[in-house]
Amino acid sequence: MDVYEAVASRRAVRGFTDRPVPRKALERVLSAASWSPSGSNIQPWHAYVLTGRPLAEVKKRAGARLAAGDPWDEPEYEQYPAELKSPYHERRSAFGAQRYGALGIARDDLAARQRASSANWDCFGAPAALFCYIDQDMGAPQWADVGMYLQTVMLLLRAEGLHSCPQMAWAKFHRSVAEVLSPPAGLLLFCGMSIGFRDATIDHARTPRAPLDQTVTFVDGR
Ligand SMILES: Cc1cc2nc3c(=O)[nH]c(=O)nc-3n(C[C@H](O)[C@H](O)[C@H](O)COP(=O)(O)O)c2cc1C
Repeated sequence: MDVYEAVASRRAVRGFTDRPVPRKALERVLSAASWSPSGSNIQPWHAYVLTGRPLAEVKKRAGARLAAGDPWDEPEYEQYPAELKSPYHERRSAFGAQRYGALGIARDDLAARQRASSANWDCFGAPAALFCYIDQDMGAPQWADVGMYLQTVMLLLRAEGLHSCPQMAWAKFHRSVAEVLSPPAGLLLFCGMSIGFRDATIDHARTPRAPLDQTVTFVDGR
């Protein structure tokens, strides 16, 4: 699979089969992804890859809290600016309309939206997941490094026939994840990532993108 194909076929998959993810494939992906770039090569990512019982335990703890109506953990970082200005606000609304519209959920049906988003904490059925931490001292450039690392992981997963879904949703239950993983002090959970084989019976519509001239400016010379 070439890089264009990997980029074009990657999408946030929200429905996986229970087919196990080969450990060797995960090792190949994580070994190759370690070649991701980072400022001064500090490699600020801390990835935990879970399958089997440990992943079931994380899902169980989050699921129990959801069922009990527990509040989310206090945020360790802000997922979005409090005021999402234009054009980001409109893009976010369009995403919500597409995602929940595809599930037949009305715009104002908050309960149904919550039920749909609760699948996040079951990793959408995925049998493997990655939890990515970053040191709490790190700044914006290092968060960008971690983003590049995670995208590299997601593209390499495509080369193994696997799909993924990056999930900030897991940061809302960071304490439950930490109970299972016991990360060193000073790390905070950026996101989870569901990993597995796509359930082809579920519609995974492509999300649109802004036209190129809204996000890219070519400044040509002669
Ligand atoms: C850092 C990050 C966090 C995300 N968190 C979630 C999440 O918690 N749950 C979810 O269903 N999708 C999540 N997504 C997926 C986005 O909604 C998705 O990438 C976006 O809508 C574009 O769609 P595509 O990835 O299918 O192209 C996240 C994506 C990123 C990059």
